[in-house]
Amino acid sequence: MTACFAKRCRTEWQEKKDGSDEVAFEHTVDFGVSISDIRIDSTHVEIRRNGDDDNAIALRREDVFDIEPDDLTVYRVVRPWTIDSEKPTEPVLEPCRMYSNTIERVCALCPSDDTNPDLPPTALIAGFSMHRFGLGVDPKEDTRRKIASLKPYRGNECSVLDICTGLAYTAIMASELENVSSVTTIELDPTMTQICAMNPHSKGLFRSSSDAENNIITQLYGNAFDVIQTLPDCAFDRIIHDPPTFALAGELYGENFYSELFRVLKPSGRVYHYTGDPSANVTGGGGVRGIVKRMKMVGFETVAIDQHAHGVVAAKQANVKFFSSGKKDKKTKNARGPRDKTRGNRGKDGRKRGSTKRWEGDRGRNTFDVRGYDDDDESESEYY
Ligand SMILES: C[S@@+](CC[C@H](N)C(=O)[O-])C[C@H]1O[C@@H](n2cnc3c(N)ncnc32)[C@H](O)[C@@H]1O
Repeated sequence: MTACFAKRCRTEWQEKKDGSDEVAFEHTVDFGVSISDIRIDSTHVEIRRNGDDDNAIALRREDVFDIEPDDLTVYRVVRPWTIDSEKPTEPVLEPCRMYSNTIERVCALCPSDDTNPDLPPTALIAGFSMHRFGLGVDPKEDTRRKIASLKPYRGNECSVLDICTGLAYTAIMASELENVSSVTTIELDPTMTQICAMNPHSKGLFRSSSDAENNIITQLYGNAFDVIQTLPDCAFDRIIHDPPTFALAGELYGENFYSELFRVLKPSGRVYHYTGDPSANVTGGGGVRGIVKRMKMVGFETVAIDQHAHGVVAAKQANVKFFSSGKKDKKTKNARGPRDKTRGNRGKDGRKRGSTKRWEGDRGRNTFDVRGYDDDDESESEYY
């Protein structure tokens, strides 16, 4: 639940018909994963998931109404127990935020749009956003582009290594591709997994406990710099390397690490490496030119910049043609599903609400499907 929901509640309450002592409408409280029936009266905001007549959550009205419009917190509903209570107390809102003892910083979920409640959240670590968002790119679109940059995913046994799990958007989206049979994902910080557990869009990471047969994601913990050394030679068809900024994890930008990427990649394999906007011409260790140079130095024969995906793509083989991550899926995916058009990013007049001007981040990244790409779509990548 976010400031966007609070704003809708206040607006609906203010605009309710005179004399009426309650108002009802539909809204998502889980970033578009489901729709809930919302009912507000003079004391409570009641939330009941569409179709679930048995369970409703009643929050104190002021707890919701008091969320400020510029509050970037994502809230979840908890029912705390007190020492002498026999039952949990009334539901309250708690920020989806945790202090990580591993990195000694605060990690938090953060909405990626203040007007469209359907868009997936990103995460902030020490104030840095984990995904790109704004100007037509939301966290899942960001992820789609990264994955599309490594097309084609051929054969029945395509293995993917995902370095830096984060909110697991990359790992989950890759695991949903038709030809991918395994995804190995590495994360330094177990706190991130706890943040994932609070995020409806990271649910696919936890499929293992309920649906072991269909779960193809293996999670490894530790510094990717060390963990990769334990992985076998030529084990992966595709590697998606999505590190934090150079300032936070410089070791994941060095020649030694790139040599390991080269070693664990199959001869026909490809790597995507997030760099930030290549046109920003960043210099130093995290700069795209230096990354290209070091990747060539460790043996990658074809290295190219993918502007759409904000990254570098590389192959062991020479003269590899990469695919355009900028092209949209040709299949019309059921992006919205059977939902009520009156909710979401539409105003009460039914018109689309404004843009996301205030909410932009270079890091910023939906359904996870790049299968509709045409295998002959060559990119306009810049080759080296
Ligand atoms: C940009 S985010 C990755 C986003 C991810 N691809 C997704 O789909 O949400 C970077 C992640 O790398 C983790 N990380 C930072 N340093 C690391 C390291 N040395 N080894 C492995 N993971 C690291 C951070 O905790 C953070 O969760």
